[in-house]
Amino acid sequence: MIQHRKFMAALLCLALAACGKKIDSESQIREGEILVRASDCNTCHHVTNKIIGPSHTDVAKKYEFTRANVQLLAKRIIQGSSGVWGEVPMTAHPDLTAEDAEKMARYVLSLDGEKEK
Ligand code: HEC
Repeated sequence: MIQHRKFMAALLCLALAACGKKIDSESQIREGEILVRASDCNTCHHVTNKIIGPSHTDVAKKYEFTRANVQLLAKRIIQGSSGVWGEVPMTAHPDLTAEDAEKMARYVLSLDGEKEK
């Protein structure tokens, strides 16, 4: 009986740990979507169509949804970028915090349905 309880407690911890990680990534994605809508991103980016910049879904397909790529894209959102998708540069967004830029990057990387690894 005691062993059974320990086993249940261990299971509960595992379940909570798994949920905690998932909820965290997913709420960041949701906040990122709000931030993207509130910023100037949509002047140049559409979810599925290329306008001035690549569609955000194409960006999601190009990169694996890893922590390293979240940081890489967040850095490019803040500093601007050129030469990755073509000649047209992306303007810098120096007023964004790294934290907010990472939420935006998570939202973009989620658009092809991939979950964060
Ligand atoms: C003035 C137009 C413009 C605006 C505004 C803009 N982008 Fe971009 N974005 C681009 C272009 C052009 C590229 C491709 C740059 C390149 O080839 O390196 C790009 C690339 C990207 C990439 C992919 C970078 C890579 O290394 O592959 C991401 C992610 C991105 N933009 C997100 C955003 C977000 C989020 C915002 C809003 C905060 C934003 N962009 C605002 C034009 C823009």
